[in-house]
Amino acid sequence: MQELGILTNAAVLCLGGKIVSVGTSRDALRDSWAKRNKKKIVEIDCAGKVVLPGFVDSHTHPAFIHPRLVDFEKRIEGASYEQIADAGGGIRSSVEAVRNAGTNALASKIHAVLREMAAQGTTTVEAKSGYGLTLDSELKSLKAIRQAARAWPGTVVPTLLGAHVVPNEFKDCSQKYVQIVCNQMIPQAASRKLARFVDVFCDRAAFTAEDTRQIFEAARAHALEVRAHVGQLTETKLETLLPFHPASLDHMDHVSDADVKTLAKLDTVVTLVPGANYFLGLETYPNARRFLEAGVPVALATDYNPGTSPTVSMPMAMSLACTQMKMSPAEAIAAATINGAWALRIARHKGSIEPGKDADLALFDVKDYREISYWFGANHCTATIFNGIIVSSDRTFSEQSS
Ligand code: NIG
Ligand code: FE
Repeated sequence: MQELGILTNAAVLCLGGKIVSVGTSRDALRDSWAKRNKKKIVEIDCAGKVVLPGFVDSHTHPAFIHPRLVDFEKRIEGASYEQIADAGGGIRSSVEAVRNAGTNALASKIHAVLREMAAQGTTTVEAKSGYGLTLDSELKSLKAIRQAARAWPGTVVPTLLGAHVVPNEFKDCSQKYVQIVCNQMIPQAASRKLARFVDVFCDRAAFTAEDTRQIFEAARAHALEVRAHVGQLTETKLETLLPFHPASLDHMDHVSDADVKTLAKLDTVVTLVPGANYFLGLETYPNARRFLEAGVPVALATDYNPGTSPTVSMPMAMSLACTQMKMSPAEAIAAATINGAWALRIARHKGSIEPGKDADLALFDVKDYREISYWFGANHCTATIFNGIIVSSDRTFSEQSS
């Protein structure tokens, strides 16, 4: 993760939405196909800029309607995330608006967020449901994600998070809700091809390791891959989860040495979301160095959601990773690109600038890649390219295809 493979005076040649070659500008100009097709080529002058693989934001919750401003104020006054949830705020307080929303309204919210993410250099987004918590409204959320994705040039990977929290109507019979997730939500999401992954919030006040095992069994039975929120509030031993070969385990503020050792032998990615620790005003952050030094693959994501991390900015997550978790700027880039792609099991197509991969690129008006994490709170992304389609954030280029 320290070795980014930086090229200077470089050129990337793209055709049909794919990267064809990467090398020096001189080689690109000598390329015989490029010479013959000079008139057809759209050339983007990146002199003095940094070109990166588009960010892969591998953990987001965009299917909600309202920000949670009362929770925000209560936390400033000293209440914790769990105290606010127990008092009627938290995830459950986002549910009513989603249940009442039409698919179009939800889709247009999600689409607006995807555009904001793209403006900061993100080209691939994992998007979870999880604020509907009934069969109909979870499927509606996934349909809205699909609708928004179709109207956006980037790539969206949909995840069913029916097991976000137990909704109020099942408070005293959570097993019944787990059965709805297993026997209704998962089969229907799978048969309608609305989700690629199933996620579970496995933690105190959400779902137990045993609930998670049942949900992962159902996902496996319907050929959906799995991932989980784990260790955000308290430690859960990973032995129940790992046999299901999760693509990623996310948050991981609390984890034992033994589990870190085990993870180092697996290809499960640990996705760290420091925006959540920042926004909750926590004093501690997940111990990124412990994972990195043990050889565990680490990704970074925004965790965009209304309760703990209302940010669309991968550069902000990277800056927090550097200053609060002591990741180097190079590690932050790798974690936000190729390791995000591994966390979604799409690294064959996404996450690096290599011939054969999708032409997903982000341009930054900085001279050195380290500046992307350094200038926190600023947006230096000037254009994003999705499968060869150029979208500008500074309107230098109008929307056009190459
Ligand atoms: O990743 N921890 C569970 N889910 C989200 C929070 C969602 C919310 O509060 O709305 C998270 O932090
Ligand atoms: Fe999350």
